[in-house]
Amino acid sequence: MSGVNTGESSAVSAIQKSKSGTKTFCISVIGATGAVGREVVQLLEKRNFPISQLRLFSSERSAGEKFKFCGQTLEARIVDREALTGSDYAILCVDAAMSRALAPMLAELKIVTVDNSSAFRTDPAIPLVVPEINGELLKGKPLLVANPNCTTIVSLMIAAPLHRVAHLERMTACSYQAVSGAGLAGMHELESQARAWAAGEKVTGQLFPRPILFNVFPHNSPRQSDGSNEEEHKLVCESRRILGHEKLRVSATCVRVPTLRAHAVALHLEFINALSPTQALDILTRAPGVRVVNEANGDQPADPQMVSGLDEVLVSRIRVDHGGSPGKSLALWAVGDQLLKGAALNAVQIVELLIAD
Ligand SMILES: NC(=O)c1ccc[n+]([C@@H]2O[C@H](COP(=O)([O-])OP(=O)(O)OC[C@H]3O[C@@H](n4cnc5c(N)ncnc54)[C@H](OP(=O)(O)O)[C@@H]3O)[C@@H](O)[C@H]2O)c1
Repeated sequence: MSGVNTGESSAVSAIQKSKSGTKTFCISVIGATGAVGREVVQLLEKRNFPISQLRLFSSERSAGEKFKFCGQTLEARIVDREALTGSDYAILCVDAAMSRALAPMLAELKIVTVDNSSAFRTDPAIPLVVPEINGELLKGKPLLVANPNCTTIVSLMIAAPLHRVAHLERMTACSYQAVSGAGLAGMHELESQARAWAAGEKVTGQLFPRPILFNVFPHNSPRQSDGSNEEEHKLVCESRRILGHEKLRVSATCVRVPTLRAHAVALHLEFINALSPTQALDILTRAPGVRVVNEANGDQPADPQMVSGLDEVLVSRIRVDHGGSPGKSLALWAVGDQLLKGAALNAVQIVELLIAD
């Protein structure tokens, strides 16, 4: 085993315990050195999660990397059975293949797991949860919970509160997705292309199939048999599943853009019942996890830079969609930090609900 968590630490548990005043838990973050995993570690501290021990894991490549957590220094180490034994919860921030490989061992060790990958999202036996929308699925205390796709979460945080009131019939979502959606390597690719361009060098890509700097292109996930890409397919299937609305008509176009973090989505929603922009604004103002941009006060519609680092999904440009059924169709602009609400924050919220009595 390379690297140890030097901060098992009474100090960590003392800090977190004194803030929570409740039972504390041993948490393992697998993929802690990635874009999502780093956010999970920060959130556990920021949200005073009641922790007795935090264990951080990576591949061999980053093993030994040091993290600061509640004043302690922790080290990432490679995953094995012994190192995981005794964990109460695991948050998986690795790719789907790795999640599939680890899940049986985690289940055997009775470690309650939240998985950020797409590995289990379509398995009807495994709840796919956005706490604000279908958090009641956690009441059965499942051993494994799937965290939804980031663009789906950003879209549904806005669509779901409106659906509850006016019943959604059709959703068209066109996304503008940041490079960090492809992990830390995605951010590094945009940054290195910007540096190359500034130095007058040729801009080349490694992760993305073409230059992302000064460019936009359809999402680079695999093409499906119907011509959509995998990201679009996820948005269709996961939206239906999370809303419990199998007949929902969903049109999706997912696009990669040269922003570092936070996904923007142009939403066009058509409802069974009448819904005006004023009513929608009122509903969304009261929706948990949503912040309405006050354009009436002259505030600018949300953009990815404004939203980076924020927990809430911001919504602006709430207006009539003149292309839909009159009185029942709205167009909106949603922007959410996909590393937070689209991944790490949603996962931590799930664990918070699971530990709540
Ligand atoms: N990025 C997003 O916006 C986003 C949003 C929603 C869901 N997700 C999902 O969240 C997961 C993580 O994504 P990410 O963006 O954080 O990716 P990432 O930045 O590429 O990080 C991947 C992490 O997995 C670790 N890893 C790779 N192989 C491993 C192994 N054999 N054992 C242990 N750890 C291993 C890496 O460790 P090393 O540092 O050692 O390589 C790294 O910590 C993916 O399933 C992704 O689809 C991502």
